[in-house]
Amino acid sequence: MIRFLEDFSLKQHNTFGFDVKAKFCFAFTELADLHTFLHSNQSWKEEKLLVLGQGSNILFTGDFDGLVIQPQVPGIFIVKEDRQNVWIEAGAGEIWDDLVQFTVDYGFGGIENLSLIPGNVGAAPVQNIGAYGQEAGNAIEIVKGFDLKTGEIVEFSAAECEFGYRSSIFKSRLKNRIIITSVVFILEKFPEFILGYGDVEKRALEKGEINLTTIREAIVEIRRSKLPDVTELGNAGSFFKNPVVSVKVAQDLKQKYPSLPVYPATAETSKLAAGWLIEQAGWKGYRDGDAGVHEKQALVLVNYGNATGQQIFDLSEKIKQSVFEKFGIELEREVNCF
Ligand code: EPU
Repeated sequence: MIRFLEDFSLKQHNTFGFDVKAKFCFAFTELADLHTFLHSNQSWKEEKLLVLGQGSNILFTGDFDGLVIQPQVPGIFIVKEDRQNVWIEAGAGEIWDDLVQFTVDYGFGGIENLSLIPGNVGAAPVQNIGAYGQEAGNAIEIVKGFDLKTGEIVEFSAAECEFGYRSSIFKSRLKNRIIITSVVFILEKFPEFILGYGDVEKRALEKGEINLTTIREAIVEIRRSKLPDVTELGNAGSFFKNPVVSVKVAQDLKQKYPSLPVYPATAETSKLAAGWLIEQAGWKGYRDGDAGVHEKQALVLVNYGNATGQQIFDLSEKIKQSVFEKFGIELEREVNCF
């Protein structure tokens, strides 16, 4: 299937719910169609490009004056298996949580802690989605896609994806160059569960024994209790990354603010909870018109209805400035702004 539209409304395609438009939109379900489109129509080369899944990690500050490409490749299937592992390939257009549900139903471990994260499968490697001690990158074997520069079909091994905390090669050196069409995951038949984060273990035990299903249920409950549902309140999950600082900076801050949550990152660095910093700077529950900071999780900026992308962006600038003034820490946006 191919769809090519002009003056395309993005309102249903960004979870903040901004009423903006793209000059052009091209959606496809098969790699061959993308190939044909890009080879037969060279005028796209003049256009700004944006690959868009469900728009769950994006902030439009105005109309997008370019070509939006929507990979809608479907399918979730088992590629191969051995005694320990199973390899599952999922199309970029599949809903991420449907893939998690599939793996949990079949009893394969590796992405269960990533339950209920909004977005499509194709976006998972781009920002290496993560939650509750798991990251997608750890379960990814191959990313398949199309290279806009060379016009070739390409494959990346996990090492070539250069996964880091909410980052990958697709977000850095190869930004806007690779259109991901499918992802191959390697999952465990006898998984070791990751239960150390917050209340995951306690909540899963309340549901009976610890298994993939109870872990998934626990995580769905925790997320629902803290994070606003995008169908009810426009948002894009964590707006900022948790800042990674030197161990020394973290220790000094911790001494001054003993309740600051600090997590080990590497031998030389520690991660700080951005939500805590923002809350302590007085922003939790703040609202100016329809732009606000979520009342249960200060890391999430929300659109109460008619806020514009620019208003949310301006609010994020004010938050950055005030956190810097109070703590000397520079917050970095996790959400992509256009
Ligand atoms: N905290 C506060 N105030 C707040 C929010 C958090 O004091 O308003 C404190 C909490 O009490 C806790 C710590 O900060 O001690 C961490 O909070 P939480 O467990 O809610 O997780 P987070 O670090 O704020 C990260 C991810 C989330 C992911 C959760 C759970 C990032 C940027 N965010 O949030 O990911 O769901 O951990 O693993 O790494 C997303 O990326 O969109 C996202 C939601």
